[in-house]
Amino acid sequence: MRESDILATDRQIGFIQDTSRLIKESESKTGRRLTASVITFGCQMNARDSEKLAGILVSSGFELLDETEDADFVLYNTCTVRDNANQKLYGHLGEAHSRKKKNPSMMVAVCGCLPQEPTAFEKLKSSYSFVDLIFGTHNLYAFPEYLNRLLSGERHIYEITDHSDNIVEDLPVLRKYPFKSGVNIMFGCNNFCTYCIVPHVRGRERSRESRDIIKEVERLSSTGVKEVMLLGQNVNSYGNGIDGEISFPELLKRVCDVPGIERVRFMTSHPKDLSDELIKTIKNDEKICRHLHLPLQSGSTKVLKEMNRRYTKEQYLDLALRIKDEIPDIALTTDIMVGFPGETAEDVDDTIDVINKVQYDNAFTFIYSKRAGTPAAVRPDQVPEDLVRENFDRVLKCVQENAKKQSLRWQGLTMDALVEEKNDSLEGYVTGRLSNNMIVHFAGSDSLIGKIVSVKLDECRGFYYMGTLL
Ligand code: 5AD
Ligand code: SF4
Repeated sequence: MRESDILATDRQIGFIQDTSRLIKESESKTGRRLTASVITFGCQMNARDSEKLAGILVSSGFELLDETEDADFVLYNTCTVRDNANQKLYGHLGEAHSRKKKNPSMMVAVCGCLPQEPTAFEKLKSSYSFVDLIFGTHNLYAFPEYLNRLLSGERHIYEITDHSDNIVEDLPVLRKYPFKSGVNIMFGCNNFCTYCIVPHVRGRERSRESRDIIKEVERLSSTGVKEVMLLGQNVNSYGNGIDGEISFPELLKRVCDVPGIERVRFMTSHPKDLSDELIKTIKNDEKICRHLHLPLQSGSTKVLKEMNRRYTKEQYLDLALRIKDEIPDIALTTDIMVGFPGETAEDVDDTIDVINKVQYDNAFTFIYSKRAGTPAAVRPDQVPEDLVRENFDRVLKCVQENAKKQSLRWQGLTMDALVEEKNDSLEGYVTGRLSNNMIVHFAGSDSLIGKIVSVKLDECRGFYYMGTLL
């Protein structure tokens, strides 16, 4: 960590201490503790950010609630990758506004990717002026300071910057699961796919130093974490821009070597940067989970070029089939987009051809969503909605047929599962996650939660298994 980052961290810790004093004062006046709730939208990065936000809230003295209903402070950690994420937030804000009318002392905050987009930020300020605090992805580390200002009576705190000066380490974190955790290895993205708003709202790619990452994994392990997921928009370019930094495969090996760590996952890999060294590393280290998420987006070389993905259909197929060949027990998943400007039915045939050849274990399928400020949004050849729908249904059907077939291939086998939670719908059952990221439900007691156990996969029911504990 740089000297300036250490100073920035110390300053924020000072704010946490001061807010804690303010909250105690409020508690002695009112006879009850202030409560808070964090609502998260979007990807694993946001989920991890929310653990940090929750950690700061709890260290500052708030009681954390699962529901927003009665919370004195509600924080929405937002996503803006597609327009439906924006609409979801506006729906939630409408409900928050009604609650705030009944309880004017309630505080509402919005952070994350959405306010980082200028049009959305203006809309929040003008149409949702009851929101007390708005801050962007680059300002997350200063949340203790904003909270302190809010509790000192300030309102309409708007803090959005377009880049990060600091990578602040060592602020408190409240993990959702005691036995597994995400670990950010890099922030931002430099790829500028022409449809994607992420580089605009998360900024340029910045890797954390490997020493800091390993230190964090060691600390996590010492508090009972067995599984870590290394997080970045494009993990395969880890280390670019830091002189003498190790490569992503080397980082993976070092994380696997941390005592107590039994499983390592990572997300997301850009196909253009996936090296042979990475394939070898996954193959040779049993601790690296047998799951690779390899976003395809489109199977048409023409569309891929216009998306600025920097690989062709053939290059992608060659890579995916090579991975399956080298590591036969790996589960491959992907992201697919339908309706990119100019996409024809023949382009979608190419996408379906790739799905059938790769035989994904699962795929997230999205309808293209126009994002302001991206090159694709201003193209005149946007695809008519009815054609997009028709193509989307064809892709979805193909994805589902393949996934069904693929998931059956593990039936009857015995695999290790990390038990994650009690099964809410089946009394006496728990739910575990396999190395290949599939879910298995089996009879077992809550005391198994957090343990890695051997389970026989008796019956595949689509996207999950029913199993027996051995
Ligand atoms: N419209 C639809 N889907 C998108 N994604 C990213 N940007 C858009 C967009 N504008 C999808 C991509 C990416 C995933 C995280 O979200 O498939 O891999
Ligand atoms: Fe968006 Fe492309 Fe970066 Fe992924 S790699 S975050 S799709 S720009």
